[in-house]
Amino acid sequence: MRKRIIAGNWKMNMTPSQAVALAKELVPLVAGAEADVVFCVPAIDIVPVAEVLKGTNVGLGAQNMYFEDKGAFTGEISAPMLLDAGVQYVILGHSERRGYFGEDDVLLNKKVKKALAAGLTPILCCGESLEQRELGVTLDFIRLQLKSDLAGLSAEEAARVVIAYEPIWAIGTGKTATSDQAQEVCGAIRALICELYGEETAEAVRIQYGGSMNGGNAAELLSKPDIDGGLIGGASLKTEFAQVVKA
Ligand code: 13P
Repeated sequence: MRKRIIAGNWKMNMTPSQAVALAKELVPLVAGAEADVVFCVPAIDIVPVAEVLKGTNVGLGAQNMYFEDKGAFTGEISAPMLLDAGVQYVILGHSERRGYFGEDDVLLNKKVKKALAAGLTPILCCGESLEQRELGVTLDFIRLQLKSDLAGLSAEEAARVVIAYEPIWAIGTGKTATSDQAQEVCGAIRALICELYGEETAEAVRIQYGGSMNGGNAAELLSKPDIDGGLIGGASLKTEFAQVVKA
């Protein structure tokens, strides 16, 4: 049985003092959860939020990371820095990073490999645009993204990756994919992992849905066999996040 994983992606929200206050508010609401619970916070909030999460059931995640350990890479943050600050998870390849900051699959493959080698759990995002969905190339596009991003990984490494399916048209729009639409893609992702790494890895890998997931629709989405969790944006900044965890 795969353990479910509900992660909040706070995106570029919450100053350090606001982040500490939000973490303190949410921690008691998700205590004792059956799922893995993760807060993926802005880089500047990592150190103060790590203090709040110490000794709780909530894991700490970053929203990005560079693939080199150190050096002349102004503005970047490395895996050893994240680890030393108490981070366990790192979101990689969110559509906002791909779209606004030009991250491509070659770069993401390096980041995924580095995160795994360092002992971090990557939450690797994939997902199609509305145009791609309407053209009927959703599954082809996601297969290409994931085959590129996971290239060169061993089966053991692939099993440690959390894959987040986030249709771009559903992010921040209030327009959730139907549970059948989400299941279709998450099932295809698991089939791809089976094709690349075998049955055992495909059964182990955890696949999240993300895109306007909230307290009201989480239970229905999570009832689908290949949806093992959620990556939550807007609703992760409110006490509503606890409803998703409960679902
Ligand atoms: P929303 O939940 O705000 O749609 O964001 C989803 C997302 O991008 C999580 O990474």
